[in-house]
Amino acid sequence: MVEQLRSKADEATIPVIIGDMATTVAPGKFTLVYLVYNTLSNLLTQAEQVECFRNAARHLTPGGRFAIELGVPDLRRLPPGQTAAVWRSDPGYVNLGTYDVLRQQVVSHHFSFDKPGQARLFRSSHRYIWPAELDLMAQLAGFELESRHADWSGGEFTAESSSHVSVYRLPPIQ
Ligand SMILES: C[S@@+](CC[C@H](N)C(=O)[O-])C[C@H]1O[C@@H](n2cnc3c(N)ncnc32)[C@H](O)[C@@H]1O
Repeated sequence: MVEQLRSKADEATIPVIIGDMATTVAPGKFTLVYLVYNTLSNLLTQAEQVECFRNAARHLTPGGRFAIELGVPDLRRLPPGQTAAVWRSDPGYVNLGTYDVLRQQVVSHHFSFDKPGQARLFRSSHRYIWPAELDLMAQLAGFELESRHADWSGGEFTAESSSHVSVYRLPPIQ
């Protein structure tokens, strides 16, 4: 990814630090930290997810914002007694999630059917987070929820929303 980026922008324009997002420290303070495309759920424990909020806070100026894009846990698809549910089924692509509801974990299995008789499988592991738990994690790190929308266009977040964009804010200095 960094190689791809370097073909477009040099180190002076967009510096990159490679490390664990829960703990890595970048020099400087910023007005915005963002973590999009469900990335927070790649941290597989609650402790690491809380640590990630604290790390975001540590990089922000007073009044700074932390923007998160995250899916809403899809448990309503899971019939009682079953551990797998299909999330999407399109021509050439099937995705299903296998759930461990006790540990709040889901493995997402992406099957792509590129050639007749062949399939590619990509798997990713996640700890899913309810919006209410996310707000509590934010509170532990000193944030307040500023806004929550269903998408980047500012659509209303409802009980049917499959994802959300939540903006948390540190208190400004009084
Ligand atoms: C869902 S992908 C999103 C990728 C990219 N940010 C985007 O928006 O297209 C999550 C990315 O986070 C990376 N990742 C997982 N755990 C991480 C960690 N502890 N620290 C930093 N990156 C991590 C994964 O390798 C993966 O590239």
